[in-house]
Amino acid sequence: MKILNLIAGLVAASAPMFGQTPVYLDETKPVEERIEDALSRMTLEEKISMVHAQSKFSSPGVPRLGIPEIWTTDGPHGIRPEVLWDEWDQAGWTNDSCVAFPALTCLAATWNEEMSALYGKSIGEEARYRNKSILLGPGVNIYRTPLNGRNFEYMGEDPYLAGQMVVPYIRGVQSNGVATCVKHFALNNHETNRHTTNVIVDDRTLYEIYLPAFKAAVQEGGTWSIMGSYNLYEGEHCCHNERLLNDILRGEWGYDGVVVSDWGGTHDTDQAIRNGLDMEFGSWTNGLSAGTKNAYENYFLAYPYLERIRKGEIGTEELDEKVRRILRLAYRTVLDRSRPFGSLCSESHYEAARRIGGEGIVLLKNTGDLLPMTVEKGTKILVVGENAVKMMTVGGGSSSLKVQREISPLEGIVGRFGNVAEVVYERGYVGDVTGEYNGVTTGQDLSESRSAEELIADAVAEAEDADYVIFIGGLNKSRYQDCEDSDRSGLGLPYGQDAVIEALAEATDRLIVVNISGNAVAMPWAGDVPSILQAWYIGSEAGHAIADVLSGDVNPSGKLPFTFPARLEDVPAHIFGEYTGVPQRDTVDIRYKDGIYVGYRWTDLQKKTKPLFAFGHGLSYTEFEYGKPVLDSKVMTADGTVTVSVEVTNTGDREGQEVVQLYVGDRKASLPRPLKELKGFKKISLEPGESRTVTFSVDKEDLAFFDPEKHEWVAEPGVFDLNIAAAADDVRGKVSFELK
Ligand code: BGC
Repeated sequence: MKILNLIAGLVAASAPMFGQTPVYLDETKPVEERIEDALSRMTLEEKISMVHAQSKFSSPGVPRLGIPEIWTTDGPHGIRPEVLWDEWDQAGWTNDSCVAFPALTCLAATWNEEMSALYGKSIGEEARYRNKSILLGPGVNIYRTPLNGRNFEYMGEDPYLAGQMVVPYIRGVQSNGVATCVKHFALNNHETNRHTTNVIVDDRTLYEIYLPAFKAAVQEGGTWSIMGSYNLYEGEHCCHNERLLNDILRGEWGYDGVVVSDWGGTHDTDQAIRNGLDMEFGSWTNGLSAGTKNAYENYFLAYPYLERIRKGEIGTEELDEKVRRILRLAYRTVLDRSRPFGSLCSESHYEAARRIGGEGIVLLKNTGDLLPMTVEKGTKILVVGENAVKMMTVGGGSSSLKVQREISPLEGIVGRFGNVAEVVYERGYVGDVTGEYNGVTTGQDLSESRSAEELIADAVAEAEDADYVIFIGGLNKSRYQDCEDSDRSGLGLPYGQDAVIEALAEATDRLIVVNISGNAVAMPWAGDVPSILQAWYIGSEAGHAIADVLSGDVNPSGKLPFTFPARLEDVPAHIFGEYTGVPQRDTVDIRYKDGIYVGYRWTDLQKKTKPLFAFGHGLSYTEFEYGKPVLDSKVMTADGTVTVSVEVTNTGDREGQEVVQLYVGDRKASLPRPLKELKGFKKISLEPGESRTVTFSVDKEDLAFFDPEKHEWVAEPGVFDLNIAAAADDVRGKVSFELK
């Protein structure tokens, strides 16, 4: 008996050695149980190592337990090339070129959630193939001023549009077992002084304008990580901001994911411990040189944190919570053995980029018969402008990429028309001839010896007998343009482009302007140019997508995700003076006195000033006629809905897509409200002569405003208008009902 007991005891004691899987590795066990088991096996030092970086873009995991490293990557338009362990310089890999997808402004301009899902799935596959656990994007900071150098990385001025478009992107990426990291939470609405700006904003504005897209990302998209922003809010840096992270994100929204700091956005150990930050990155951006032994050990959440625990100044409760969240992210990504393998630079990704690009291009103006182009043998097409040839995937800051290929607009036009037409190129102006970011070079030689006057004269000379003159200019990704860490100095086009366009408009009535930018620009010549396209940064397939639209192979269907003001003086952030373009080392308070009146919410109230192009504006090569909107009920009860339907007909002669927009207006409320707010949109495709009925369902949530006194969303009884529109300034029909 004794011997039997001894044998049984030995078997039990050695069971794990003979293959009993520990709970944290056991895929049959619930994740939360596995997290607790993993946590219970970790030493204090191992836990601390998980909450801060070990290199520019990774954190270490726990090698002893086989818990893998977490690798992050920018984001948000393609997968950033590999950099050295401790530096921003290139690692020099030869297998890390990617597909550049269109910038997020372009995605938002599609107003098509299917495009967003396709985008997320495709970029997620690239991230997965490159073995990343976190994709640093997408960004949903609201477009408050056209000077913000980073607007191109965001989804426009409207919280509803950004919220609707971010959700499918997140789901698409995360279906690959790669976490999105929605950024920059929150109130990071300009770049100059991004580390020292202290935003002062009232609660109503915060909840109605600046938070909804993040909330949608958390509650509907289910993002597994979020990045804190560089700026301060109420005097506390947003990467460890008690109100934003503890109260709102985790408290009110029930977020269970990881909060990642922006690179170098952590400033204080105690705040970082208590205020919800989980992973600290980039605190010493020049790598190891700033540390005594190892810079990463000096991170706010590294040795200083360990010391506080060892001295008994603080317990491990917060640390355990942070590690739990990181483990949860690991189980969702790198530890999920069923996740797909991903793919890199696949043809389907190029197709996706081209499709999204084509759908995002906005036809701003089209009078006359220039577009779509009809090209025959002998047609002469003159292309003018630096942006026709300049590679746009290099530059702009952290979203800069190393692409496998990039089709320039000129290449796209030559490819589409070159077999029949004569395509001539003229430079027109010299912008920025450099082409390098963090060691990635475009390899382009854009040097030019002609003077500005000569360049214009040469372009004009070629324009005189051209059947089409296509000016391709706008901004680029250089500093003080569409570029991180700096803002633009004005609304106008740089490099003297207005003079080139005006000279061309004088010389020919066959002028098409293609503006490439992620921001609104002033167009003092708009009245003299028959056709204008807004073409964004489209990435690898830029030239193809632009040629698709010019040729009519793709009928444009993009709509502006932000207002194009006529003048900077018409933008409320600037009217009320709360924006500083002047770099400042000390904290600078920026009051968002423009409140909820951002973009069309402001222009709607103006009698005299009209925007150059309104939010939601975008033309097609066909025409759409809207019928009278029909309500299913004139009364809505508190927990009910009303639906509004409208028949839309394609009255032109080619197939096209239209974005039908629904804006809700509250006739009378106890607080001032915008005239109307976007609460629904649908993109439909119609053959010539075809009609379709579009139906929107509206509930109480769509009628509510945020009452700061009660700290809740309130829909007050009364009369509401439902505006069916083709743009914010183009309401096609209105019906009203009463909320009882
Ligand atoms: C940017 C982030 C980016 C990070 C890592 C920061 O400078 O603000 O958006 O993800 O760098 O490159």
